[in-house]
Amino acid sequence: MALSRAHKERGELRIHESLEELSTDLADYIAELSEVSVKERGVFAIALSGGSLIGLMGKLCEAPYNKTVDWAKWYIFWADERVVAKNHTDSNYKLAKDGLLSKVPIVPSHIHSINDSVSAEQAADDYKFAIRQLVRTRVISVADISDCPKFDLILLGMGPDGHVASLFPNHSALNEKDEWVTFITDSPKPPPERITFTIPVINSASNVAVVVTGSGKAEAVHLAVDDVGSNSLSLPARMIQPTKGKLVWFLDKAAASKLDGAKFSE
Ligand code: 6PG
Repeated sequence: MALSRAHKERGELRIHESLEELSTDLADYIAELSEVSVKERGVFAIALSGGSLIGLMGKLCEAPYNKTVDWAKWYIFWADERVVAKNHTDSNYKLAKDGLLSKVPIVPSHIHSINDSVSAEQAADDYKFAIRQLVRTRVISVADISDCPKFDLILLGMGPDGHVASLFPNHSALNEKDEWVTFITDSPKPPPERITFTIPVINSASNVAVVVTGSGKAEAVHLAVDDVGSNSLSLPARMIQPTKGKLVWFLDKAAASKLDGAKFSE
């Protein structure tokens, strides 16, 4: 059984005994949000990240989700992408295509991957343009208090350094307030060239989930979630604070092991 608690300002924490249990809860969560969004808006605009997240979403390809989810209404985006060819092993698109998108009946024209034949800067511009078009046609909604796109769900992983999407600690991309999508050419985690949603776009989403497993990330989870003073205010994961939306952390016990009051999960 998952332990769940609401953390003042930092969202809901769902702490799981095993990866198996976490994966099932994650699939249930995504399927439920998809259902609500399709009912309310007729579509589901979801943004993915790379890393272990895609493997943890694997249950969606199995029964009952493969049959019950309204895949034809899904529109897929990437919260961040490495600027490499789509068939490159580093491509987040390839990871998602191989692990998820090729296994469920998503409409190919609803999959919005980046332009992989241009520079990082141009790829970020092209992605912004594509998103703008889909905001116009209401495939993606708009946040009430800004003109930011409001994705139905943005799924993020987190690195041991507290990075989310391709927003790394102390990087100027973290402070980007005006652009929806920005680019970096000096990622501390290879490959160096990436595009990424900015903090304002992530925080405008209706739902944001951060999926984190393993003891190597326990300290970063603690800094991102607990009341640790001003030291961690600029930690990228801590800057994820949806303005109106809902934030959920999917953690395994190892990742949750350094949380204040971690004893509550025993
Ligand atoms: C990337 C990923 C990245 C990832 C985290 C966590 O492009 O590098 O999108 O942001 O989500 O690094 O990755 P793991 O879950 O594999 O540790």
